[in-house]
Amino acid sequence: METTAIAGKEAKGYKLFTPVKLGALSLSHRVVMAPLTRMRTTKDNIPNDLMAEYYSQRATPGGYIISEATVVSRNGHGYYGEPGIYTDQHVEGWKKITKAVHDKGGKIFLQLWHNGRQSHFDLQPDGGAPVGPSVVPHDDMVFTPKGWVKASPNRALNIDEIRVLVDDFRRGAENARAAGFDGVELHGANGYLVDQFLQDGTNKRTDEYGGSIGNRVRFLLEIVEGMVAVWGGDRCAVRLGPSGTFGSISDSNPAALFGYAAEQLNRFGLAYLHVIEPRIVGSYLKEEGLQPVASAQLRKIFKGAIISAGGFNREDAEAILQRGDADAVAFGRFFISNPDLPLRLQLGLPLNDYDRNTFYGGDEHGYTDYPFYKGAVTSQAAAR
Ligand SMILES: Cc1cc2nc3c(=O)[nH]c(=O)nc-3n(C[C@H](O)[C@H](O)[C@H](O)COP(=O)(O)O)c2cc1C
Repeated sequence: METTAIAGKEAKGYKLFTPVKLGALSLSHRVVMAPLTRMRTTKDNIPNDLMAEYYSQRATPGGYIISEATVVSRNGHGYYGEPGIYTDQHVEGWKKITKAVHDKGGKIFLQLWHNGRQSHFDLQPDGGAPVGPSVVPHDDMVFTPKGWVKASPNRALNIDEIRVLVDDFRRGAENARAAGFDGVELHGANGYLVDQFLQDGTNKRTDEYGGSIGNRVRFLLEIVEGMVAVWGGDRCAVRLGPSGTFGSISDSNPAALFGYAAEQLNRFGLAYLHVIEPRIVGSYLKEEGLQPVASAQLRKIFKGAIISAGGFNREDAEAILQRGDADAVAFGRFFISNPDLPLRLQLGLPLNDYDRNTFYGGDEHGYTDYPFYKGAVTSQAAAR
């Protein structure tokens, strides 16, 4: 158990608790729930009632939740127990969750992803090799039915397979609509498939999807085109992790790469760009005291709204909003352990500690049993 408690005064006059518009989303506060893989689906990656309870607990009127990353293709899995959005059963399962969030007056986007090379034979159709832009060996761990094991060696996708995957993301966006989501966010960060195409440490292709920055960003842009065709730009978003290293990825010139990607995304009129600050690797701070920098850099390039994520507490969330480098802030670990996080941040209430042992997989323990602040739910702030 790590200590994360922050208590303080009520956040009077804080921008964090003022309304904001992110594309088609009209929100009443800016404390966003970050996408969080929790691996608690039932068999065949189908979302269930326990997940509906978890999301419902964290929904607030006018509050915004980004779902855990959700796989668009049968060969996209990398964590046992993560949800999918490529079968009718997935759509039916997700309907329970979107309804639960909407019943509380909240909004929810589905985060679309493909794990790419971050996978294992045991998670692949017919025990095949995980796929990626290129064959680049790495030592990362993935979660299989047998627990955490080393990722399996991957193979490189051919052009026809890339086109199929682009279409899988479009179909994922369509299925998200059928499941009642308010929009979709593409997971382009943290070393998964889209990021593997973006960064040149993992993309060694010599065709139109590799080499120049323009070629490496092509896969991302083609996917976004498909999402936007389904939803319109103002209900689509992209998450990027400039200078991210999680998943053993790297780039020789991240400033140029992510600057170009953000500039290209301007044409879609997205609801927002979601930026993970490089002071965090996965869910660990690199070191204490590092300031957010990526949102400020991309703010100069990206014309739409920005959600910033990675290592924020209430005070530095407010600071980035005041500086104008972000329009909302996403919280990950604090939202895991505090179902009523917006209220606690607003009133300056102490936070529950989080338990890393129950982050990934398991049952209701460390999932739906984190306590709400006692008695606070009757206050006026809770009704926001
Ligand atoms: C258990 C866990 C699961 C995560 N799953 C996802 C995910 O599915 N998609 C994603 O984009 N980021 C994921 N992240 C990263 C978080 O969204 C967030 O960027 C990270 O936790 C840093 O924010 P924090 O310092 O507020 O926790 C995950 C983080 C944790 C701790």
